[in-house]
Amino acid sequence: TGNLLLDPAFVNTASCSSKITYIDGDKGVLRYRGYPIEQLAKHSSYLETAYLVIYGDLPTTEQLEVFEQRIRRTTLIDERMRDLFRCFPRRSHPMPVLAAGIMALSTFSEKSAGTDPEQVENATDRLIAKTPTLAAFSYKNSVGQPTLYPDNSLSYIENFIRMSFGFPTEPYEFNDEVTRALEVLLILHVDHEQNCSTSTVRMVGSSGANLYSSVAAGVNALSGPKHGGANQAVIEMLQGIRDSGMSTQEFVNKVKDQKSNVKLMGFGHRIYKIYDPRAAIIKEHADNILKLHTGRQALLEIAQELEETALNDDYFKERKLYPNVDFYSGLIYEAMGFPVNMFTVLFAIGRLPGWIAHYREQMQTNNKIWRPRQLYTGEQERAYRPIELRP
Ligand code: CMC
Repeated sequence: TGNLLLDPAFVNTASCSSKITYIDGDKGVLRYRGYPIEQLAKHSSYLETAYLVIYGDLPTTEQLEVFEQRIRRTTLIDERMRDLFRCFPRRSHPMPVLAAGIMALSTFSEKSAGTDPEQVENATDRLIAKTPTLAAFSYKNSVGQPTLYPDNSLSYIENFIRMSFGFPTEPYEFNDEVTRALEVLLILHVDHEQNCSTSTVRMVGSSGANLYSSVAAGVNALSGPKHGGANQAVIEMLQGIRDSGMSTQEFVNKVKDQKSNVKLMGFGHRIYKIYDPRAAIIKEHADNILKLHTGRQALLEIAQELEETALNDDYFKERKLYPNVDFYSGLIYEAMGFPVNMFTVLFAIGRLPGWIAHYREQMQTNNKIWRPRQLYTGEQERAYRPIELRP
């Protein structure tokens, strides 16, 4: 073990080479396959961005049509999967239900539950097509409402919105601004190079596990509050500030008091030491969406004031802590009508193409099993003692 380097939390270690996403954390740059996130958020669709990230380039009209068609005809899930959903307790958290649903999917298709390129291609289509269906089912289960079948005359995003908020007996009225805001949010989440969940997908994939197992592991990694759960924590923090009646300055002072162990949720990032470019785009949409829901503007106002207070404070300036993607995204999801326990599920739908792209890239390059080393700090050799002789 003489030459081992210790790097807890991989702060300085690159685990792989990748051609998918470029981040410059000092300048606030994020590009998928070379395209700036701002341009994709403005002009692209979720499925087009998924294609870009997975296959390496923007599709032609024909390629996009074929891809969309492939996804559209795969949205239904096996009827027996509905029984699976019925097994979960009524109010179960939709995130573990989604993870279980993704694993269950693999058992319904031998054609895609392996690792040869054709199977991976098949699993790619099935995961992109069926994850929103599973997500909407887990949501409907969590609120005790009837589930809806996908309607393939709708766009990908509309389909998901209707399956989430519609009722089988009524036509659904879409609001174009909400549909586009959700699409933009998903585009912004599509990839973020070697974050915890994506590294998990690569780690599991490196053992030769199939795409479903690797993606389900990614969903579970994403469920933690330091990763995908932060947008839920932001809402809870804002509600706490509102309910306690404290000023944003008082809250910031509490965060600065090291003993309090309170963090300003939605602030700070391992890579970005400047404004997260995704947060800047989301902030614009937050204004538009919250205007539609006047009752919910109070939290946005607290968030805006809190951001300003923190950005002007030396504690945050010195540590280069700026709003990250989660600071405003939860507010929009909330205004759209999603309960907080669905926020991470939405993040998972967004991140799915990134996980798939990384899995495939790894399969196509050097898929050596990941096996980090460690520095052992435990006991040296000692002799076994019978239980009656132990202190
Ligand atoms: N509020 C208050 N202080 C903070 C915060 C915060 N949100 N973030 C970092 N700090 C302080 C931290 O205490 C440390 O101070 P000191 O040097 O005095 O000990 C300093 O800033 C450096 O922070 P760090 O913990 O070493 O940074 P990290 O790279 O390990 O952590 C982070 C990054 C995102 C986990 C952290 O900033 C955090 O916990 N933020 C709040 C949770 C959050 O918003 N998470 C979403 C991240 S973006 C989406 C995603 O990747 O899933």
